[in-house]
Amino acid sequence: MSHRDATRCVHAGLPAPVPGQPFLPGPVFAAPYHLNPEGHRPGDDGYGRTDNATVRRFEAALGELEGGEAVAFASGMAAISAVLLSLLRPGDTLIIPEDGYYLARRFAEQNLTERGITVRSIPTAGPYPEAVLAEARLILLESPANPGLDVCDIPALVERAHRHGAWVVVDNTTATPLGQQPLELGADLTVASDTKALTGHSDLILGHVAGRDPQLIARLREWRTTTGAIPGPFETWLAHRSLGTLELRLSRQSDNAARVVEALAARPEVTRLRWPGRPEDPAYPIAQRQMRRIPGVVTFELPSEAYATRFLRACRLVTAATSFGGLHTTADRRAQWGEEVPGGLIRLSVGCEDPHDLITDLNDAFDTASRQS
Ligand SMILES: Cc1ncc(COP(=O)(O)O)c(C=O)c1O
Repeated sequence: MSHRDATRCVHAGLPAPVPGQPFLPGPVFAAPYHLNPEGHRPGDDGYGRTDNATVRRFEAALGELEGGEAVAFASGMAAISAVLLSLLRPGDTLIIPEDGYYLARRFAEQNLTERGITVRSIPTAGPYPEAVLAEARLILLESPANPGLDVCDIPALVERAHRHGAWVVVDNTTATPLGQQPLELGADLTVASDTKALTGHSDLILGHVAGRDPQLIARLREWRTTTGAIPGPFETWLAHRSLGTLELRLSRQSDNAARVVEALAARPEVTRLRWPGRPEDPAYPIAQRQMRRIPGVVTFELPSEAYATRFLRACRLVTAATSFGGLHTTADRRAQWGEEVPGGLIRLSVGCEDPHDLITDLNDAFDTASRQS
């Protein structure tokens, strides 16, 4: 029986019901475990850097949602760096999004170039020249990319990349597996910061990788064990607890974003409004084809850095914070992090509040910021 998203989220990774036992067993806190006096038996837990029952249960839940096998990591960056460092060798070429998460690019430039790996950046929406694909060993995509929210036609690129023997890895942080299924679209691996919408309560740092090729997954598990990048059981348990409401949260964020985008489009101060769910958006046709739902992240530009700062100061409900995908609506002026974007660019992460309250708050803040001009 195949269930729909909300049902899958509520039940993902939970053990079969046992009278007297909890729905989601509590976190297992353990560094070493008792060993068999005759020696370690494969399959038994021996040491917490290798595995943990709470982490396994969360990975089972993620695997169900991703349609593959998942490996949990201590953060999104731990997951991305595990993929890049464990799979790439000197002489290889990596393609990375020019407009994606800036730290992934900085990581690659700082750590891969000196190891003899060529790093090329290409805008998410392309074009991806045939000659560049022919050299590539691994293509890291981020679709929708953050903060610009462009999308890449994943199945079309996978088809071309695979002809050249390159792996395609999709950073699916913004969409989550409910919004987009990279493995189903043909990607070799999907990677994510679970700090964001997947867990959605702004209270933990976590990441994961998922795939269908047992050899790739084994390499990532081995990497995690030897570098010590396994997440702690408490974070993992909180994350599993949060998964139950993923569909509810995403539905609300997406509906709210549609309403907020309409209100933003009516404001003269707002330019370069981007949301892949808006029919006028350049990403809309591809997003409609390959995405199952549109996340609550919206990007727009305000007239200047000073205007954007006044706007953020004037918001009462919307709070200035980085990260995205949480219950609370947050706004981030991305240029402050050193990203090469205009000073007035705002990434708005629409949360789960009442849409009327959000729109009132945003309009009041625009009015205040404009009056102070
Ligand atoms: C698209 C994307 N990927 C990866 C990361 C890194 O995740 P983490 O902060 O959990 O290390 C982020 C963080 O903002 C992100 O936005």
